[in-house]
Formats: sequence, structure tokens, C-alpha cells
Amino acid sequence: MGVRNIINITDLNVDELNNMLDLADDIMNNKAKYAKKCEGKILATLFFEPSTRTRLSFEAAMLELGGNVLGFSEAASSSTAKGESVSDTIRTVGCYSDIIVMRHPKEGAPLVASYRTTVPIINAGDGGHFHPTQTLTDLLTIRREKGHFDKLKVGLCGDLKFGRTVHSLISALLRYDDVEFVLISPTELKLPQYMKDKMDKEGAKWTECLTIEEAIADLDILYMTRVQKERFFNEEDYIRLKDFYILNKEKLELAREDLKIMHPLPRVNEISTEIDDDPRAVYFKQVLNGKYIRMALILTLLGIN
Ligand code: CP
Repeated sequence: MGVRNIINITDLNVDELNNMLDLADDIMNNKAKYAKKCEGKILATLFFEPSTRTRLSFEAAMLELGGNVLGFSEAASSSTAKGESVSDTIRTVGCYSDIIVMRHPKEGAPLVASYRTTVPIINAGDGGHFHPTQTLTDLLTIRREKGHFDKLKVGLCGDLKFGRTVHSLISALLRYDDVEFVLISPTELKLPQYMKDKMDKEGAKWTECLTIEEAIADLDILYMTRVQKERFFNEEDYIRLKDFYILNKEKLELAREDLKIMHPLPRVNEISTEIDDDPRAVYFKQVLNGKYIRMALILTLLGIN
């Protein structure tokens, strides 16, 4: 079999996805069994855009599997600053590592990178496009918290235009039965038409609304997102929209007791810290789940049992 890359969440079929979630659960429950699985292997993290969770969780994942890590956390500290192309950078790093994790501001950059090396490439976020490993994290969190995906009513709130985690999560959930989406966003940050077309093609039920209060009472999952400052062309628009949604105790009173509140993080103001200790807030559990699912992904792409 050829080298496997993860550029989009749909690069994994549903069986592979479910197997990976099972593997992550097993790693969580049997950490010692996996502690030496990647001895002698090197993971490279190439981050052309800032990150805390994705980069560090991949590095922690590889270290907990007994492997080693190398990489850079900003383009300015690599030869990109001297004008080197992504293609040449990837060919070079492929000589030093067994698997490469890459985040880049340009949509499609990880796909192009995958043509230039023979080691697996993992897309850690490409512009406003996709973020498949966040989606794996989200799916593991939903399955652990809810036990299933079918028939869930999922509210997606905030920057649905630029929020790549939302685009990847919808793509993944569309493959399960009868998942319903409620899109909560200001007009300027609505979900792109191509994603709505995708939902229509799959026969998914979706509605749009402007406020959290309109939607929250019926939801199983509320997935909050930050307004993506780095993707705005105009500072004034960002300032006008950045605090459009703030989930607080008052709004949460309208929700069911079994609601789960998720957020890919980082948050800015869109979730008040006053609800962090509410049992419905699972965004820091989500962070921890991210490490275990990335351990499962590394093992799967390297073909290690
Ligand atoms: N969720 C996420 O991608 O976080 P980072 O930007 O910190 O990696």
C-alpha cells in the first residue's frame, strides 16, 4: 500500500474513522502498552502559522509513543524567510523524518506538499479550508460524551465563513445518519455556499439563525468558534464582529442539562470563563482527547499495530 496522507477528514472512510476512535480509547485506557510503539521514529512539525494545541499535542503524542520530534513553530525561523518554496522545504524535511505535520495559511499547501515527499503528510490546518485532526478530536469528544453521532442536533456558532474546524466537522458528521445542523452566525460570517451545497447533496437538515438564544434549547452539541482575526482583510469589520457572541450563564440557563459545549480553542471572548466549571463545558476535555487521537493517527499512518 502507498503512503497515507490526511489532508481532508474524508481521506478516512467511516470504518477507518471508527477504528481510529476505538484505538484512541484503547490508548487512553492502556498507556503503557503504547509507550514504545514509535521508538526510532521522528515526527516533524512544520508550522507556518501560530498554534498551541495542535503542534504541542502532536509533539506530546509522539513523545508518549516513544518517538522523537523536530520542527519549527514559525516560518520566520526557517529558510522560508530566505525565500525557499514549500516544496523544497518538504522534500528536505522528508529526508530527516518519518511523518510530517504541517500548518500553512494557504489553502491547499499541505496537498501540494504531499506530492513532494514520500513520508505521510498530516494537514494541521490550511487557511480557512480544513483542519482534519481537530475534527478527529471533535469526533472523539462527541463519541465519548454522547456515545454516538446519529440523530444529533449540532449548533455551530460564530465564524462559520473562515472557521476551518467547522467545515471539517460538518464534512465528517454528514457521513452519519440524520445529523441536523443549526448554523448560528452574523450575515457576514455565514457558512460558505459550497458547504451548504454539500449538506443539501447529502440530504442533511440545516437551518440558519442569528442568536444563540433562538437555538440553544434544542441542541445536543453547541460548537462555539472564535472570529478568525487573521483572515479578515479589514480591521474595522473584525472589531465590529468579534464580540457578536458571548456564551454566558444567563444564556446557558435556556439549555438542556445534557447539552455539551465544545470549542476548538483558542477562545477570545466568545465563551465567558464563568461557565468553565459547568459540567456541560467539555472544551478542556476536548484538548486532552486531541493528544490521544493524534497518537492513534500517528500509529495508523505509520502502519504500527
Ligand atoms: N484548535 C487549534 O487548532 O488550536 P491551535 O491553533 O492552538 O493549534
